Amino acid sequence: MKALVLKQFGGPAAFALSDVPKPAPQAGQVLVRVEATSINPLDYQVRRGDYADLVPLPAITGHDVSGVVEAVGPGVTAFIPGDEVWYTPQIFDGPGSYAEYHVASENIVGRKPASLSHVEAASLSLVGGTVWEALVGRAALRVGESILIHGGAGGVGHIAIQIAKAMGARVFTTVRDTNFGFARRLGADVVIDYRKEDYVEAVLRETGGQGVDVVLDTIGGNTLSRSPDVLTQLGRVVTIVDTAQPQNVIQAWGKNASYHFVFTRQNRGKLDELGALVERGQLRPHVGAVYSLADIPLAHARLESPDNGLQGKIAIAVGALAERHGAKPRFIGGTA
Ligand SMILES: NC(=O)c1ccc[n+]([C@@H]2O[C@H](COP(=O)([O-])OP(=O)(O)OC[C@H]3O[C@@H](n4cnc5c(N)ncnc54)[C@H](OP(=O)(O)O)[C@@H]3O)[C@@H](O)[C@H]2O)c1
Repeated sequence: MKALVLKQFGGPAAFALSDVPKPAPQAGQVLVRVEATSINPLDYQVRRGDYADLVPLPAITGHDVSGVVEAVGPGVTAFIPGDEVWYTPQIFDGPGSYAEYHVASENIVGRKPASLSHVEAASLSLVGGTVWEALVGRAALRVGESILIHGGAGGVGHIAIQIAKAMGARVFTTVRDTNFGFARRLGADVVIDYRKEDYVEAVLRETGGQGVDVVLDTIGGNTLSRSPDVLTQLGRVVTIVDTAQPQNVIQAWGKNASYHFVFTRQNRGKLDELGALVERGQLRPHVGAVYSLADIPLAHARLESPDNGLQGKIAIAVGALAERHGAKPRFIGGTA
């Protein structure tokens, strides 16, 4: 099968489109023909070596799958060949999704929501699972509460807006001005231009000085230390960002605030719950661009670029689906 193999840590050209053996499902595993995957910041963080200790090379990376079950190993009860499925491969534990086939434990695989295309489903599994864990599992957002979602036009943020609205919250979000319309169409109540306005001042103005109940940090920097300034009493902060610098959160004391640190975990249950929201029409991923498997280096370069003009996600159409999307194979480095 074709796979995009990371031979060394480095820039987008560190990948090589290669022929590798097709995997076989073991007990409890399904073999999936990958129809689509997507690009996450984790992918370029892994590629450049941020998690070198956890990723033995050469490696097939990639953290989203939407596809069709081709075979099942002994003992699999939930799926049969032909089932359409979606999931995030176990992170830092075996090959990822930049390939024509992938094997996974049936326990982390869900049935793809029927109303999503493969490209859409692959654009939701990791970010949706993360938001579910953050807002439902940790922040326990309640009807009538308010939330500040940083980066509302990004892969995580645009899903967080929709899920927070479905949970009955008033949503504040930070985006650049060109994404105001996008964020409002997703359901945001208050949009703040993070390049022109200080979000603390904006939130306090819009809430009459009360602040919000929950902050979802998708950007890092000094968000943890500034969050108490925008929180109500007993507010909650959920961060999904691996922030390198220490931050002083002493102000959280005065707000009786709770901090949650989320590194998304894989299980079928949250995929099924996300699927229910999708089928109710309350959640839909926005696919900002589609590339082919061979073009993943270009997709990485684009997602990493600060002014990439993206809304939502970059999806990757694999195999026959790539041809139907017109995503022509192109290559910019390594050995094709
Ligand atoms: N812990 C976990 O399990 C987990 C899971 C998923 C993601 N993450 C992490 O979460 C972060 C976001 O992921 P993503 O998939 O949403 O990335 P993404 O698709 O690249 O989106 C990032 C968004 O942040 C916006 N942004 C940049 N600087 C900002 C600022 N100062 N204020 C407000 N918005 C700003 C960007 O907007 P512009 O277009 O205006 O630049 C962009 O829309 C990444 O660091 C990723 O590694 C962690």
